[in-house]
Amino acid sequence: MRYDYNEATLTARAKLEQIKPDQNIDINELFFASISNYLKDGQHVLDIGTGNGFVLSEIAQRNPNLHLTLYGVDNSEEMISLAQKKLGNKAILSRGDANHLPFTDKSFDLLTAKNVTRIHAEEIYRVLKPGGIFVFREYGRGKGLCEITSLFPNRIIRQRDPSFYVDSLNKAGLYILSLNCYTVARKYESIENLITIVKSFPFIENFSQEDEQRIIENFHDPVVTSDPFILICRKEQSL
Ligand SMILES: C[S@@+](CC[C@H](N)C(=O)[O-])C[C@H]1O[C@@H](n2cnc3c(N)ncnc32)[C@H](O)[C@@H]1O
Repeated sequence: MRYDYNEATLTARAKLEQIKPDQNIDINELFFASISNYLKDGQHVLDIGTGNGFVLSEIAQRNPNLHLTLYGVDNSEEMISLAQKKLGNKAILSRGDANHLPFTDKSFDLLTAKNVTRIHAEEIYRVLKPGGIFVFREYGRGKGLCEITSLFPNRIIRQRDPSFYVDSLNKAGLYILSLNCYTVARKYESIENLITIVKSFPFIENFSQEDEQRIIENFHDPVVTSDPFILICRKEQSL
């Protein structure tokens, strides 16, 4: 299934980045702090499924004293052109598939992926240099909208437990350095905003008008539990 990139979707997603969780946990801050922790001058960094270039632009802003060569890859032409607008000459962007990354073996010191369900562990291993790091931020089985996914238990597409990623990265030869799973409440602007978000992520099979109605009936206060995690792994140094 393809992502829907109409204007409402893009606006809703941009707003989603700005919704802070109710508790004092900011997953994006933790994600970018984890990345910065491993960055060194002169490194080559690739963001997989870069979307509008948010991750790369944050990396550049947060590490102004490091000379980094930033790369972004996404399989959507539309997203690549949005990222191009955001990043200008700060990053090298290309259209490509996470399953066949358009880079030679051992090209990168650090890889990132944020909210990209379909990472490919063997490809991550292949393009990482020995000793290289992969920092991954995703949602667990609740897809960041736990009460919504539990309304449609048998229709959730690509519902993956963090252990799925741990196992596949391990199997590909990467060592897990840490896996931190969080449970945070998120308050949406309105039910309409919540529904736009739900519709922008193709995670419920055959989502219909009736399903939309069901959400409206169930959520009078648009607070939803989110289940993000941050997984960090490393490729062996001596290869
Ligand atoms: C939910 S968006 C996240 C974008 C960005 N990482 C962020 O968090 O702001 C997922 C992105 O992954 C891209 N994507 C999905 N499957 C992909 C694949 N197989 N190869 C490359 N990009 C992919 C989509 O086009 C989309 O831009």
